[in-house]
Amino acid sequence: MILAIESSCDDSALAITKIADKTIVFEGKISQDSSHTEFGGVVPELAARLHAENLPALLERAKPYLAGVKAIAVTNEPGLTVTLSEGVVMAQALAIALHKPILPIHHIKGHLYSLAIGGDLPMPCAALMASGGHTLILEAADYSAMREVAGTLDDAFGEAFDKTAKMLALGYPGGRAVEELARKGSAARFDLPVPLKGDARLAFSFSGLKNSARLAIAGFGGLAAMSEEDRSDLAASFQSAAIAHILDKTRRYLAAARPKRMGLVGGASANLALRSAFGELCAEFGAEPLFAPLEYCSDNAAMIARAAIEAYRLGDFCDPAEIKIRSRSPLK
Ligand code: KG4
Ligand code: ZN
Repeated sequence: MILAIESSCDDSALAITKIADKTIVFEGKISQDSSHTEFGGVVPELAARLHAENLPALLERAKPYLAGVKAIAVTNEPGLTVTLSEGVVMAQALAIALHKPILPIHHIKGHLYSLAIGGDLPMPCAALMASGGHTLILEAADYSAMREVAGTLDDAFGEAFDKTAKMLALGYPGGRAVEELARKGSAARFDLPVPLKGDARLAFSFSGLKNSARLAIAGFGGLAAMSEEDRSDLAASFQSAAIAHILDKTRRYLAAARPKRMGLVGGASANLALRSAFGELCAEFGAEPLFAPLEYCSDNAAMIARAAIEAYRLGDFCDPAEIKIRSRSPLK
């Protein structure tokens, strides 16, 4: 079995997965959302301190399964340096205590393998990833040959939802709250611009859209002057433009690259409006759409353990003293 630890942002997670049949024997996650809400975003030092409390609590629950563990996997890149360190230090301690090797895992590869929890990921595979930290299109020839073909020029998709949620006083993280509010509203009400429309670049940008949402609120004289209907119409108009943008770029990618299959991953891939529009778009290009189960869209350790099965088979081991933490790191 592989024991995997995830602490790249504000979710403390630990999972143990069987290498042979990929079944999960233990999984635990402690979300820190409520602790960061009052700050309107993740406070790295607070997140690190909470990981230092939460990860040992999860390990305590996982103790009955430690005897069969053959390797310790841990997210070491990319993410917040201070929070990644908490997971890595625990992985080092476990590796030394249990005399097992470490498998360093790239967080984005983990999200890609959320498409294959308990099963296989057909290769080659393309994917659109939309989370709070990343918005990108990736191409994977196999586990050890991946590249980013489109990235964001400024904010990430989920981050834009979080910032819009903050403007609408919906709390943090606000992606799901914006989606729920949008369901009650009319997307035709506000004419928010779809970013980079007509721009041939395969790239994402959300800062202009976020700003238009801010201006729309200012146009009322502030949030307090907006009715419930105004708010839900704005949420719907924002969500519609954000989805139109990432799918406009995904359409360009599908038309040019014609992948056989394309996955949708990352915390924001739990958005049902995005999931259904993505599925329809893939069908238009004859690409098989792949989705992660809703419970594995946001950060979790089961996806890290699943990716680590590939790393284990390839012998991608690392000495506990040699593991490197990188806040930014390209896919490879
Ligand atoms: O993958 P994830 O858990 O963490 C990162 O690696 O960033 O993604 C979290 C992000 C947050 O920005 C959250 O607001 C967004 O995903 N998100 C959503 C939805 N559910 C979560 N965004 C839009 N619609 C949703 N339903
Ligand atoms: Zn993530």
